[in-house]
Amino acid sequence: MNADWEVLVEKDGPLGIATLSRPKALNALSMSLMKSLLEVLEGFDADPAIRVMLVAGSERVFAAGADIGEMKDLGDETAAEAAMAEHLARWDRIARLRKPVVAAVSGFALGGGCELALACDFIVASETAQFGQPEVLIGVIPGAGATQRLTKAVGQALAMDLCLTGRRLNAREALAAGLVSRVFAPEILLEEAKKLARLIAATAPLAVQAAKRSVRGALDCDTEAGLRAERKAFYRLFGTTDQKEGMRAFVEKRAPVFKGE
Ligand code: CAA
Repeated sequence: MNADWEVLVEKDGPLGIATLSRPKALNALSMSLMKSLLEVLEGFDADPAIRVMLVAGSERVFAAGADIGEMKDLGDETAAEAAMAEHLARWDRIARLRKPVVAAVSGFALGGGCELALACDFIVASETAQFGQPEVLIGVIPGAGATQRLTKAVGQALAMDLCLTGRRLNAREALAAGLVSRVFAPEILLEEAKKLARLIAATAPLAVQAAKRSVRGALDCDTEAGLRAERKAFYRLFGTTDQKEGMRAFVEKRAPVFKGE
């Protein structure tokens, strides 16, 4: 494992793991930390050896939001936009990565931290996870995607409740709301997240990327257009070696060997 600024970088076979590590500030997502994180994730996305990415924090905290210290004296609207546009766009760039990204959330995932988890493809959480958008408590609103991504994930009622009160959701509530896909004890979260990532990594990479794009597309377009795009992607995969290998292996009753071609 290498220390890359405030992001620890680990490659474990086909898994690329980025661990937020700024403990004194509860992993507050400063501009430098987000720049490093994006560089790491975009590096994994371009690395042929990596098939799935994991973003994790510590057991106590995933991330306590954007760095309030960096924002407090930004000045007016124009100054805020000038200072933060590139920073906030990094959450969107994470959402646009080609390969699957799993967020493993333990402890606080607040503000920009919750939005970071939401920018990933899905979230697995520990029993201690707490999700929230407390921005209204400090005079702003979510700026890294929650009014859109949280609303699409959990629906208007709960998104309004969270964004307007700043209250937190625990792991069980998050599971019931569909914000997270699975909940584990904190001490096994990372291992379970890795197991899940390895399951994804064992499948056909181009199919996984097409599935990711298609599911993500469901939130952004009408059903008819989404169905057309899904079908097109389905047909396109018949041009891949992995489709031939996957179906042939099934018929021959053996395990497939996928190459990502
Ligand atoms: N930015 C900068 N520093 C932060 C931080 C943040 N978001 N969150 C915590 N810290 C720092 C604290 O200032 C403190 O530093 P010092 O030890 O130097 O004083 C250290 O981390 C530990 O924090 P606490 O003492 O507050 O720890 P706690 O256990 O009592 O409370 C907490 C934990 C409930 C998470 C609390 O720290 C908290 O409420 N943090 C802020 C959460 C927040 O408002 N997030 C939204 C930020 S705005 C945003 O994200 C905008 C956007 O959409 C992009």
